Amino acid sequence: MKTEALDLKKNYLVPCSYNLYQRPPEIVRASMQYLFDANDTQYLDFFAGVSVMNCGHCNPQINKAAKAQIDKLQHTTTLYLTRPIGELAEQLAAILPGGIKRSFFCNSGTEANEGAFLAARLFTGRRKIAALTRSLHGRTNLAMSATGIPMWRTDPFLDTAQTAILPGPYDETAGMVTDAAAAASLSTISATLAFRDFAALIIEPIQGNGGIIPLPDKYIQQLRQICTDTGTLLIADEVQTGFARTGTMFAIEQSGVVPDIMTVAKALGNGFPIAAYCTTDTIAQAFTKPSASTLGGNPVSSSAALAVIRYIKKENLVHRAKELGEKLMTGLLELKDRHAIIHDVRGRGLMAGAELYKTDGTPNPEGTDLVLEYAKDHGVLIGKNGLHRNVLAFQPPLIITEENISRMLSVLDDALTHLSRTSAS
Ligand SMILES: Cc1ncc(COP(=O)(O)O)c(C=O)c1O
Repeated sequence: MKTEALDLKKNYLVPCSYNLYQRPPEIVRASMQYLFDANDTQYLDFFAGVSVMNCGHCNPQINKAAKAQIDKLQHTTTLYLTRPIGELAEQLAAILPGGIKRSFFCNSGTEANEGAFLAARLFTGRRKIAALTRSLHGRTNLAMSATGIPMWRTDPFLDTAQTAILPGPYDETAGMVTDAAAAASLSTISATLAFRDFAALIIEPIQGNGGIIPLPDKYIQQLRQICTDTGTLLIADEVQTGFARTGTMFAIEQSGVVPDIMTVAKALGNGFPIAAYCTTDTIAQAFTKPSASTLGGNPVSSSAALAVIRYIKKENLVHRAKELGEKLMTGLLELKDRHAIIHDVRGRGLMAGAELYKTDGTPNPEGTDLVLEYAKDHGVLIGKNGLHRNVLAFQPPLIITEENISRMLSVLDDALTHLSRTSAS
C-alpha cells in the first residue's frame, strides 16, 4: 500500500515544514483558479501559492511556452550564450519603473534579496542593511538578519551587527498603520541613516507576511528622500507584490517612487523557479567581477517568465486586479461592518488582508485558524499571515471572476458567523 502523503511529509521532511490545515487535503491537480484533491474535490484558490500563480494554475499558454523550451534546450548556465534570458531581461526593463534596466537572475526571492544586498554593498562601499519591523526578506543568513518578523528569524546566529530592524508605520497598539507611527518611524530611520554607514534600506511596498500592510504613499516618498539624502540605496522587495497583483505592474509605482534596486520572484515564473534583482546601469556597473547562478534564468524558467509577461499584458491583468480588487475590498468592508471580530481590512488590488481580534481586543490566531479550516471544508482556500498569525490573506490568481469573489465572501461570512458561536471569538 502507498504511504499517505501526510506521513511522507511528517517522516521525511525537516519538521519546520508544516501544514496550513489541521486536516490538509492532498492536492493532486489544478486548473487556473481551482485546485483539486485526491477525491477530486474542487477548491477555489484565494492564496495562489502565496502570491505566485497570478496567471492561474497550469495556465495552458504559459505551460505551452515552457514545454516547447524544455524539449529544445533545458540548461546551459549563463556561461553559454542563449536567447531567452536576454529577452526576459529586455522585457523586464520595459516594465520596470524609471531607469531600472539590468537584471541578475537567480531562483528565489531570498536569493534575489541577497543579491540586491551585494549589489548595494559593491556600489556604496558600505556594509550595513536596514529593514523594517514586520518585514520578511528571506531565509539565508543576511536576508533573515534583515527580516523583521520574529517567527522567521530562526537562525541563532543572525548578523545583528550589520543589520538594523527599524520601526515601520504599523502601530502595534492600534493594530493598524497610523500617522503617528509613520512619523515616529520616519524620524528613527532618518536619524539612523544619517550616519551614512548603511548600504541599503529594503522595504516591501505592501508588507505581505507582516499582515498585508500597505505602506502609505507619502511614507514611501519620504523614505525615498531620506535614502537619497544619505546616499543609502532604496531596495523595493516586490517578491510578493509584483506582476499586476496590486493593480499596477509593481506596487511601488502607486507612490510614484523609483527605487534603486527592485527584487522580483514568485509570480514572475507563475510556478517556475525564477527570480531577479534589477537595478540601474550605474549601480550595476559596480559589479564587474565574474559571477553566475547555475540555474538562474535558465531557458525553461525564462521562457515561462516571458510567457507570463505576455499573458499579463494580453489579458490586461493590471486592470483586472484593480477592478476586482475594488469588489473584494467592498465585500470585506461590508463583512467588517457585520462581524466585530474583523478589526481591520486593508490592501490594494487583489492583495487584501483582514485582521482578526478577539472580543477582548487582542489578536485572534485561533479564530483565524478556525476560519481557514471552515473555508477549506467549504471549498475555499484562504491564506494567513501577520505577526500574530491573525490576518486572513486574500491573494487569488488574478484571473478569478466576480462570481468567485462573491462565493468566497459568502463562505467567509458563514465562517465568521460560525466562529462567533465558538469559544475562539
Ligand atoms: C516579500 C518577500 N520577500 C522574500 C521572500 C522570500 O522568497 P523565497 O521564498 O522565494 O525565497 C518572500 C517569501 O514569501 C516574501 O514574501
